[in-house]
Amino acid sequence: MADKITELISEDLIDTKVRQLGERISREYSGKSIHLICILKGSIFFFSDLAKRIKVPVTMDFMSVSSYGSGTESKGDVRIKKDLDDSIKGKHVIIVEDIVDSGYTLSKIIPILRDREPASLEVATLLDKPDRRVVDVEVKYTCFNIPDEFVVGYGLDYDQKYRDLPYVGVIKFDN
Ligand code: IMP
Ligand code: MG
Repeated sequence: MADKITELISEDLIDTKVRQLGERISREYSGKSIHLICILKGSIFFFSDLAKRIKVPVTMDFMSVSSYGSGTESKGDVRIKKDLDDSIKGKHVIIVEDIVDSGYTLSKIIPILRDREPASLEVATLLDKPDRRVVDVEVKYTCFNIPDEFVVGYGLDYDQKYRDLPYVGVIKFDN
């Protein structure tokens, strides 16, 4: 039998929330430009959709970190696999994440980026699982709080699969 995926957040609802977040960020950064950082690979669709909805000038860079391996539990040992190409010094930076779970990933990345002296540094996440938090992280922009379930789609994977689904769904494993 195949893994079973049940829709949790529809494509339409994602679109609505991402537009609203783009409008909010555009208001809050009025007169400034924003340097968006995509945390690969899970935030690719959220990152590109959000970037299109932000009406102030945007530049982009990409970072890849490992935290999960192929399982569904975060370990504390977060590593940078691909660092940013460009300096963030003096820039208004927004880190774009797919999901905040234990908080380990952001708690590792944020101090590293702060040391590089951006003008400001905030986090935008598509999803947040507040019940799972192990370390406290400051997340300014969240589209959806979700329950403690493993989700896939709209960029999020299980073992590199299901990123291409246009919605976010809860996965129940075939085992
Ligand atoms: P954290 O370090 O535990 O906060 O986890 C952050 C990363 O774990 C996310 O950026 C995702 O890549 C991955 N992750 C956490 N929960 C899920 C999930 O439900 N589905 C897919 N990936 C997840
Ligand atoms: Mg991620």
